[in-house]
Amino acid sequence: MSFDSRALRRQFPLFTRQPALHYLDNAATAQLPQVVLDALIAHETGRRANVARGAYPLAEEATEAYALARERVRRFLNAASVAEVVFTSGTTASINFFAHGFGARLGAGDEILVSEAEHHSNFVPWQQLAERSGARLRLLPLAADGRIDAARIEQFVSARLKLVAITHCSNVTGALTDLAAVVRAAHAVGARVMVDGAQAAQHGAPDVQALGVDAYAFSGHKCFGPNAIGVLWVRAELLETLPPVFAGGGMVGHVSLAKTTYAEPPARFEAGTPPIAQAVGLGAALEWMASLCWPEIRAHEERLGRCLLDALAAMPDVRILGPREMRERLPIVAFAVDGVHPHDLTQVLGDYGVCLRGGHHCAQPLHAAFGLEASARASLALYNDDADIDALLAGLDRARTMLR
Ligand code: ALA
Repeated sequence: MSFDSRALRRQFPLFTRQPALHYLDNAATAQLPQVVLDALIAHETGRRANVARGAYPLAEEATEAYALARERVRRFLNAASVAEVVFTSGTTASINFFAHGFGARLGAGDEILVSEAEHHSNFVPWQQLAERSGARLRLLPLAADGRIDAARIEQFVSARLKLVAITHCSNVTGALTDLAAVVRAAHAVGARVMVDGAQAAQHGAPDVQALGVDAYAFSGHKCFGPNAIGVLWVRAELLETLPPVFAGGGMVGHVSLAKTTYAEPPARFEAGTPPIAQAVGLGAALEWMASLCWPEIRAHEERLGRCLLDALAAMPDVRILGPREMRERLPIVAFAVDGVHPHDLTQVLGDYGVCLRGGHHCAQPLHAAFGLEASARASLALYNDDADIDALLAGLDRARTMLR
């Protein structure tokens, strides 16, 4: 299928809203295409039942729909097996889950490496793990342009290093991490690599086998799917060794008064009724993504990102956070305007129908590295177009005049 941004935009009901919105907060939440809404409604109205429990046809249909959703995630990630795909409520839950499961084996003398560019969701769980286990949390520093300096990982690898938890793409600077360098160095000393894919997954399917990582987390709501659904993929030989983190229905082999045995993965890690319709919706979203022409989408996103970066770079009172070039980054652009607080800026832009996030974007250590408390952030998705960039730039001019 060839790429047509206007046709693509027409698939999203939100964009029929009047007056028109210029939605540039896709790093926080992407919009839902009609096909995902249809899949959600079809499931909830025609196949709603609990899964892996009932033997009547409706329950079997629900179970099959849930299993198909897992297979669609497997395909999206190019995972070796559906048994490696654990449904969670989102990236944050996936990372916390992994921190508790993998972290159960860490103790004093072990080291965990994270970068200074992490979202709090991939920082605080590791800080907490270090506090409760006695393991040491180490920080991979940033290069001068705010990228994670993956080349410096060599200084951090030793037999003590057990895990590198790192983002695939910064939710502030859009910078992509050189995961190949990270994986090479970590695996050379037997350490595992867990990747926060919350931002990268929206911009094209990550291939976990090609990346060579050990665990990968992403969210449905940033991939044109529903809220409250996420994925934790873990390589089978590692997942099989993890203890269950949550206990309850659905995750057991057999329970007696004396002892409980556990189900095989992934059921072992999905205690309680899972987010069934959300998983079905995510499956539909990933199938929809798979039907698109990604080389054209990437070119489109790259061109828009470059337009925005060039326009912002030409403004003497604007500071762009992160690399100036689109090479090795995604179209997530955070910036600071001299003398204008990002909250005020994004509020005024909001009044003009331009939706941007302002604040620390749950990445305070990264902002501290830039010497800032906060920034404004425009994050583009495949349905954005030149009119969105023009509206942002016009709004920025008006806001500047109004706020100074
Ligand atoms: N993690 C999301 C963001 O960066 C919410 O906005």
